[in-house]
Amino acid sequence: MCGIIGFTGRLEAQKILTEGLAALEYRGYDSAGIAYFKDTGKISIRKTVGKVKDLLAICDDENNSTCGIGHTRWATHGGVTNANAHPHKVGNVALIHNGIIENYHEIVNKYDLADSLISETDTEVAAALINKLYDGDPKATIKKVVAELQGSFAFCIMFKDQPGKIFAVRNVSPMVATYCDDGAFIASDLTAFIKYSKRYFILPEYTIMTMTADGIEMEDLEGKKVEPDYLEVNWDVTAAQKDGYPHFMIKEIHEQPTAITRTITPRIKDSLPCFEDDNIPDSFFEDISDITVVACGTAMYAGMVGKALLKNKFGIPVSVEIASEFRYEQPVLTDRSMVIFVSQSGETIDTLEALRLANKYTKKTLSIVNVKGSTIARESNYVLYTHAGPEIAVASTKAYTVQVASFYLIGCKIGLVSGRMTKEEAKTFIENLQEVPNLIESVITQAPEIEQLTKRMTNATNAFYIGRGLDYALSMEGALKLKEISYIHAEAYAAGELKHGTIALISEGVPVIAVATQSHVYSKVISNIREVKARGAYVILLSKDKDITDKSICDVHISLPQAPDEFVIFESVIICQLIAYYTSTGKGLNPDQPRNLAKSVTVE
Ligand code: F6R
Repeated sequence: MCGIIGFTGRLEAQKILTEGLAALEYRGYDSAGIAYFKDTGKISIRKTVGKVKDLLAICDDENNSTCGIGHTRWATHGGVTNANAHPHKVGNVALIHNGIIENYHEIVNKYDLADSLISETDTEVAAALINKLYDGDPKATIKKVVAELQGSFAFCIMFKDQPGKIFAVRNVSPMVATYCDDGAFIASDLTAFIKYSKRYFILPEYTIMTMTADGIEMEDLEGKKVEPDYLEVNWDVTAAQKDGYPHFMIKEIHEQPTAITRTITPRIKDSLPCFEDDNIPDSFFEDISDITVVACGTAMYAGMVGKALLKNKFGIPVSVEIASEFRYEQPVLTDRSMVIFVSQSGETIDTLEALRLANKYTKKTLSIVNVKGSTIARESNYVLYTHAGPEIAVASTKAYTVQVASFYLIGCKIGLVSGRMTKEEAKTFIENLQEVPNLIESVITQAPEIEQLTKRMTNATNAFYIGRGLDYALSMEGALKLKEISYIHAEAYAAGELKHGTIALISEGVPVIAVATQSHVYSKVISNIREVKARGAYVILLSKDKDITDKSICDVHISLPQAPDEFVIFESVIICQLIAYYTSTGKGLNPDQPRNLAKSVTVE
């Protein structure tokens, strides 16, 4: 949700800001803008509706400023217009913002700000308030303003009479920063300045940071000095580039074998799951009465697979909750309940608030998170980091499969410590999991064939995904992928449930992607396929069959490499990702930047 960057130092700011914004564009691409100090000490602004390339078209080639801030917008308050684009400048102040100021109306009335506003945004209200209260002391003013604000915010602020300086403060919305030989950097996430530094720290909440070319200083709202807590990533700038692929999404689909290997290998010792390096003791997995998985979107669907596995294989009661619902409901948790929070970004506000709620009920909170040091990771009792590397495409792919792989490790561990699985069974299970990267690799080699076989999908307006058990669980993710990047309405249905209403929507030519890989319900799914075929559906069947004897049951058959039932779902989901990707590109869309969406949802 909105990408922000700031730089002050020894290099030309405009290049750093616009390159950084391009790297952050996955966070929002309605409009883009920069503000910078000119030689004269004045603050200049360039901003426009559109993407970073549109911003570049209105930037000065000769801009040699070394201090500035930049923003890519995902509209919340007010439409997509130049006036609503950031940075906002009111009087002495230029500012960029990620988040939502919930009480901005009250602030306008309380401080009589209406006349100083030209946009419809909550952000401009914050700029106007800072300008109104500014008395020459930026930090004191920011403290006063922050005390007035309700909601989430990450601000970078420049004051006209403070050339070369950027001030930053945040609540909830993420910001990371660093100081290195080139100067001081701040951004919504590290991808924006990884080219300059692999070291970074998370700006603590309600801490005011002052950035200059010579260093950074932080203090809390009481004026107490705060030291940065530096982290370092083990990936570099190439991980955040397309590397010859046409889109980040297809690059990330290809990265899944490596991402899974990186995630599971450090957690396997003697063919058994081991979380020693994560500092998670075995006792954490003992004596669990039930598990609740809480997450949003794709991460929640990874939880659905986790549920199907844990419940059926290990007999543990598991429920999966949508974070935005869970956080406003009465949790049914005891101190023996384990609650697992799944999040790629580790910053999704609903998941974070759900975690804060669960922490009041049980000490058994565990997060599965990709971004190191993120808020969800820090606030859960234990964290299991997935090692997918940066996920840039808005539509999640590799983050999902590593989350699912993590559930397989956790499930196996719980199976072992609870005695529901023998050591030998656990070893076989883990050895099969270690084969998953190879299975995925062989599925990915079929990509050109999948593109050809599923070409008809581009004509669809509706599509259905059906399956049972694990196949149903992964179908939910398949349907979401298709919806978000191809704009085709898609639904996942438990194959046996379709005839209880939804089958009314099946008519001539409606695509049904049927996943039939689970032996114990295979014949049942085939019967369900016949039901939709009889009503004219265009059936794409995913199964482990080498060949289909009765050709009349489907229009397209995609044969999956042989693997035990529990593991074949990794193959099926890759096919679903490829179907969505090629449908999107086949329709001439950009799968990396689907309309209305942005990554890392830090607003409710
Ligand atoms: C869809 C997608 C989203 C995210 C969801 C949660 O492709 O990426 O549904 O999964 O917004 O985000 P995280 O995992 O960052 O909490």
